[in-house]
Amino acid sequence: TNILVRREDRVGVVQLNRPQARNALNAALMAELIAALQAFDADSEIGCIVITGSEAAFAAGADIKQMAEASVIDMIDSPFIGYWDELRRITKPVVAAVSGWCLGGGCELAMACDLILAAESAVFGQPEINLGVIPGAGGTQRLTLAVGKALAMEMVLNGRTLSAEEALRAGLINRVYPVEVYLEEAIRLANAIAARAPVAVRLAKEAVNASFEMSLRAGLDHERRLFYLLFSTDDQKEGMDAFINKRPAHWRGQ
Ligand code: HXC
Repeated sequence: TNILVRREDRVGVVQLNRPQARNALNAALMAELIAALQAFDADSEIGCIVITGSEAAFAAGADIKQMAEASVIDMIDSPFIGYWDELRRITKPVVAAVSGWCLGGGCELAMACDLILAAESAVFGQPEINLGVIPGAGGTQRLTLAVGKALAMEMVLNGRTLSAEEALRAGLINRVYPVEVYLEEAIRLANAIAARAPVAVRLAKEAVNASFEMSLRAGLDHERRLFYLLFSTDDQKEGMDAFINKRPAHWRGQ
């Protein structure tokens, strides 16, 4: 009930749907979101996933009303922040299509996706400092990796927000579109990715994400093993044969 799920060709679309609360992320919504992502990830008809919100808000953060009275033990025992880790285990590319507020846990959700497309109206921020806390689902880490220390410090220490244009210039997001078309552009990009060789797409995502977690040496070795592995797929033979014979490739995902 907290999300809407649909298919657009080979793209699975998950829309966060708590408009009355600016899509604040409560435990029920996050559980439904992760279940929907896992179902799309296991579905061979789906090649790419889009997460979006409403025009007014992608998500205004974790649900403050749900957290307000929590003790430290409540927080530790809760599966809540673990849901952001579950996102990392989704093997197909995930695109965040962001309009309006994208704050706190909402910004952390977008940053846990592989690509971020935004409407001109989007506002990105980590305002947890205003609540007497700090980002807890990757904000201090992924934001710093994306925009660098200078901007990340201003955002995390002083609640500075970024417009879509600023976020684009800072390297936080991929593209900005008018609000009327941002979602269809995100779905178009997702369908373009979904039309590519599935195993290569999956390993490409894994290899890029590994760069955040490994030394350069280990990352290069990991990349090379994945590269070699692709020579065991029919799609590698098909892709190279199609190039040589000047014809379109037909991917089988095998
Ligand atoms: C719970 C929220 C909410 C949130 C908005 N609402 N954000 N409820 N948690 N994060 C609710 C409001 O209480 C209000 O409910 C309704 O949504 C509409 O919000 P308004 O404030 O009236 O709307 P507006 O004036 O348009 O302002 C939008 C806003 C503002 C700028 C997004 O709501 C806001 O600042 N929200 C909090 C943003 C934030 O601090 N996020 C970080 C959360 S902490 P009623 O019942 O009054 O209509 C976090 C930590 C993550 O994310 C840790 C790891 C998971």
